Amino acid sequence: MRVTVFGSGYVGLVTGVCLAEVGNDVLCIDVDETKIANLKRGIVPIFEPGLDEMVKDNLRAGRLKFTTNVLEAVEHGVFQFIAVGTPPDEDGAADLQYVLAVAKSIAENMHEYRVIVDKSTVPVGTADRVKEVIEQVQDARVVDIPYDVVSNPEFLKEGAAIDDFMKPDRIIIGTDNPKAEKLLKALYAPFNRSHERIITMDVRSAELTKYAANAMLATKISFMNELANLAERLGADIEHVRNGIGSDTRIGYSFIYPGCGYGGSCFPKDVKALERTAQQMGYQAELLNAVENVNNRQKQVLFTKVSAHYQGDLQGKTFAMWGLAFKPKTDDMREAPSRVILETLIAAGANVRAYDPEAMAEARRIYGDKPGLTLTDTAEEALTGANALLVVTEWKNFWSPDFDLIKNTLKDGVIFDGRNLYEPELLKEMGLTYYGIGRP
Ligand SMILES: NC(=O)c1ccc[n+]([C@@H]2O[C@H](COP(=O)([O-])OP(=O)(O)OC[C@H]3O[C@@H](n4cnc5c(N)ncnc54)[C@H](O)[C@@H]3O)[C@@H](O)[C@H]2O)c1
Repeated sequence: MRVTVFGSGYVGLVTGVCLAEVGNDVLCIDVDETKIANLKRGIVPIFEPGLDEMVKDNLRAGRLKFTTNVLEAVEHGVFQFIAVGTPPDEDGAADLQYVLAVAKSIAENMHEYRVIVDKSTVPVGTADRVKEVIEQVQDARVVDIPYDVVSNPEFLKEGAAIDDFMKPDRIIIGTDNPKAEKLLKALYAPFNRSHERIITMDVRSAELTKYAANAMLATKISFMNELANLAERLGADIEHVRNGIGSDTRIGYSFIYPGCGYGGSCFPKDVKALERTAQQMGYQAELLNAVENVNNRQKQVLFTKVSAHYQGDLQGKTFAMWGLAFKPKTDDMREAPSRVILETLIAAGANVRAYDPEAMAEARRIYGDKPGLTLTDTAEEALTGANALLVVTEWKNFWSPDFDLIKNTLKDGVIFDGRNLYEPELLKEMGLTYYGIGRP
């Protein structure tokens, strides 16, 4: 089948390459000319396990192509996927300007039936707005070309995006149109072979399902962070509590890790956007509001511990920071807790020596030559000349470091573990001072 994907970021690129992998003829379009020029040469702008190889393979096989030409893109696919960004606007609502711009481009250039598939995370009612844009353009063009707008939210996780797309837990198709449903089901058939994964529903429910999923996961994290802060004050260990409740199958072990806050391009903005949607409907979403507030506060927890340890005097102190990406296996630093922590430390007069296995180029892009910040080539190098170490992202290669080296290199022998990677007792026995999250 012929497929066009608007937006060649995390979602667009993964969608395009996975649909090409199973044999479709895919054309990906982006407004970023440099990105497209690189992708045409097989250079992938993001770090995502397995993606690089798959892009190269499918380019070579001729099933995957890239362009910046809108007319070519709209002519190409019966399916026109929208996978552009929906960042928060100034009051937290999802900014739909990119989605609606794509809708307009499609409407201006289409000549025959098209299924417009919204994969971006968009507020309930967006499909109707996309239709309005198309109708307006059709009226101006004095044409009446048939089309359908379908909601098909994406649930991939950065770091496991290819696997999530190839073997999804579910494929949501939001439509009330049997023709569009049939086409989408045929397109997704290769990903639906072992058991039924497709769930069809009306468009509005599909749009809300995506926000509901992210808000639920964010709620689990904020709940555990709230409990961790309480455990700390009560002399309990949140890690025991986590095991104690995770063993209950009604609760489960996933997404109940306490830490220094959630980040990334989805949870923060989606919780905010859902809160705004509620507000626009005259409903006060108390829980969502609390989830966001708890998370914002949690991003400060590590700094508060550092500041308390040094009695508020951070002037001239140097801190090693392990981890900049918002989670392991990605180089994405959008809304990452690391950013709040390093910026707050530097604002308090401290220096930060930071290392991340994948996000160094991204950190360089964001911070350039920011005074007070040194980006190092290795984790060990970050320790050089530092008073203490902060662990911010739970990359596997930080799980079992050389504690002797850490102890001998750090001036004050202190570890602030924002992800509870280490055993407090073991480190204390080694003579290191240890601070975790929610641990006595
Ligand atoms: N990143 C994730 O893990 C994830 C997971 C599920 C859903 N989503 C949602 O998917 C959407 C896209 O997210 P992302 O992380 O891929 O974003 P991204 O910022 O990585 O990529 C968006 C791309 O769209 C391009 N673009 C903007 N306007 C365009 C236009 N008019 N025509 C063509 N391209 C255009 C941009 O240049 C950019 O390359 C968002 O709504 C997001 O919430 C993201």
